[in-house]
Amino acid sequence: MEIFTKLLNAKPTTTPTNFGQAANLVRNALSPDVSLINPIELAPRAEIEAVQLERLRWSLSHAYNNSAFYKPKFDEAGVHPDDLKSLADLAKFPFTLKSDLRDNYPFGMFALPMEQVARIHASSGTTGKPTVVGYSKKDLDTWAEVVARSMVAAGVRPGDRVHIAYGYGLFTGGLGAHYGAEKLGCTVIPMSGGQTARQVQLIQDFKPRVIMVTPSYMLSIAEEFRRQGIDPRSCSLEIGIFGAEPWTESIRQEIETTFDMHAVDIFGLSEIIGPGVSNECVETKDGLHIWEDHFLPEIINPETGEVLPDGEEGELVFTSLTKEALPIIRYRTRDLTRLLPGTARSMRRMAKITGRSDDMIILRGVNVFPTQIEEQVLKIPALSPHYQLRLYKKGPMDAMEVLVECDPQAQGADDRQRAAAELANNIKTMVGISVSVDVRDPGGVARSEGKAKRVLDER
Ligand code: DLL
Repeated sequence: MEIFTKLLNAKPTTTPTNFGQAANLVRNALSPDVSLINPIELAPRAEIEAVQLERLRWSLSHAYNNSAFYKPKFDEAGVHPDDLKSLADLAKFPFTLKSDLRDNYPFGMFALPMEQVARIHASSGTTGKPTVVGYSKKDLDTWAEVVARSMVAAGVRPGDRVHIAYGYGLFTGGLGAHYGAEKLGCTVIPMSGGQTARQVQLIQDFKPRVIMVTPSYMLSIAEEFRRQGIDPRSCSLEIGIFGAEPWTESIRQEIETTFDMHAVDIFGLSEIIGPGVSNECVETKDGLHIWEDHFLPEIINPETGEVLPDGEEGELVFTSLTKEALPIIRYRTRDLTRLLPGTARSMRRMAKITGRSDDMIILRGVNVFPTQIEEQVLKIPALSPHYQLRLYKKGPMDAMEVLVECDPQAQGADDRQRAAAELANNIKTMVGISVSVDVRDPGGVARSEGKAKRVLDER
């Protein structure tokens, strides 16, 4: 317990600690708490891969035999579940796209009779129909298990008080976090998103040790603390589990310094299960361990569909290994990252998501992700960490304006002018594009209570 407590109480660091082949090290470091870690998380690769192969065979057959979508899809591609002899054979199977879920709206891809579907979630979908996903009772148990596992990785323990500010409802964030926290034996505060002043009041009164919320909304909560004259560092929070949107190391540093807490990354998507597909370990903060006994990752070249070796950046693809209601084979997430070997757990890690291929902005031939601009905004002390990117037409050309806010301590005209020039210059040098910068008053950039909207496309 001592080492674990020491690790947790150590000042937050954004420098990853390299555990190397650390399964044994971590087993020692965490030994008194090892009962909270599922042995498969620390198992040798060969054991993990054996579990994957057996489960993958089941998942392919289940999809083929029970989902009206997969049988014709596999037949058309000339593949059969029996063709899978090794994990590498998965590459022979066709991809599943978001449009497949839309085309089969609402329940056309399900592989269980509706009476056995215990819950439905849906993602809002900015255009057209939402993406609908379903869970059997067993799927809900699996989901709670992977979220609980993620929380343990983040340093949460049974008995901790957990404030959940992900939105409840059809979005998977709130309920997904909720049942995971309950499963781990935490005291859950199901606050949901919004009512920012009340978030602060409840944190002050209920004194949670843990918060689960989008990183952008956490920054709004920080702002509300200050508005109420309370130093965020004085509050009870020690661990934050942040996800549902891309966020950079600079935001991690900002949140950890502002709250004197650990900020840990959680990833997931509704199509695969919701939050809890992968999570960082608090002691290493070096990327997110994928719970590979339930979700099989691949990285592909987004243009050719070819599978890339570990270490190379490309599009993340997932196959569910145990899901009953909605088995999903080779789902193209559009998220860009790379696969890395295990450190604090034997399961492979994914690097922090750079962005989604759909969020990539092409400005006069240069590919830009909002996270690249984020890093530059956060480097300038005279600016606060809230930003949006406005895309518009300047004559025949595409142009970008970066909307930012001055820090409340740096509101003078000179400060603003200097900050604007510095940001434009840094973006030109580091990202390679010319932008204009609009430095607004504090509060001048729209806030979100869930996933931040970073791009305003007016073209
Ligand atoms: O956002 C599930 C979730 C809830 C994850 C709470 C983590 C915490 P969807 O609404 O289906 O599900 O959106 C999934 O969000 O494909 C990524 O593009 C993005 N995303 C999720 N987590 C992260 C993260 C939930 N940690 C989409 N970093 C995914 C970067 C993330 N992007």
